Amino acid sequence: MDWSWVLTLFSCWGRLKAPASGGCDVGPVCHCVRGTGACYALGTPGGLIEAAGSAVTLRPEWQGVVPPMVAPVVAARRGVDLNPLDPKRDGARLLAFVWADQTLRLARLQAALGLAGGGGVVDEGDAADWLEARLQARHPGQAHLVYHTIAHQYFPPTVQARIEAAMAAAGARASADAPLCWLGMEADAAGPGAAVTLRIWPGDIAVTLGRAGFHGEWVEWRGMGD
Ligand SMILES: C[S@@+](CC[C@H](N)C(=O)[O-])C[C@H]1O[C@@H](n2cnc3c(N)ncnc32)[C@H](O)[C@@H]1O
Repeated sequence: MDWSWVLTLFSCWGRLKAPASGGCDVGPVCHCVRGTGACYALGTPGGLIEAAGSAVTLRPEWQGVVPPMVAPVVAARRGVDLNPLDPKRDGARLLAFVWADQTLRLARLQAALGLAGGGGVVDEGDAADWLEARLQARHPGQAHLVYHTIAHQYFPPTVQARIEAAMAAAGARASADAPLCWLGMEADAAGPGAAVTLRIWPGDIAVTLGRAGFHGEWVEWRGMGD
């Protein structure tokens, strides 16, 4: 199997079908993929991974292996959050949370807010309720990616356990033609930053892809290995 899509989806720095942020990256992220490729570009030592029309470029300090320069084709995406924000309604407030002298962050956020407006949907709801329902559908011929960043630690233990069970149950129904992937960028005890982990079914293969700064400042990439 060609694993190159894993990095490229990561480059979206967003969520496809998992808890989205209630913060500044909800809207942009849910629009970060429009049919093909990512609207967020990612700078790497191998070049820029981007889709046409990328309005926001993330340029983390890159350590480790160079990722493959391949863009995925995204058939559909959807997110969920307990309290999804509306970039149009809440954008000015989000900008106010950034220190005024952090001009690069402000420019990036403004560009990201500009991406919002059409395409993706972030549902209002609980991640476990939402995933249990959403994972019922299989998608033959497509990889189904569940993706979250810095969200797991906020879920109550019962929600965490239900998500684990729902993923395992859906994983047991996965096939080579309809694989299930679970990508997380989440805090752990190891540090620094967050662990970037991947589980893939069928087979329940678990890989630590690397680590990343909590706000994408740096990436230490191991990739899928050999
Ligand atoms: C730290 S923020 C997310 C940060 C964002 N994903 C990022 O990487 O920048 C945590 C988010 O989890 C959401 N959240 C917390 N508990 C949740 C639950 N049970 N179901 C869905 N979303 C939840 C919160 O509303 C909040 O938007």
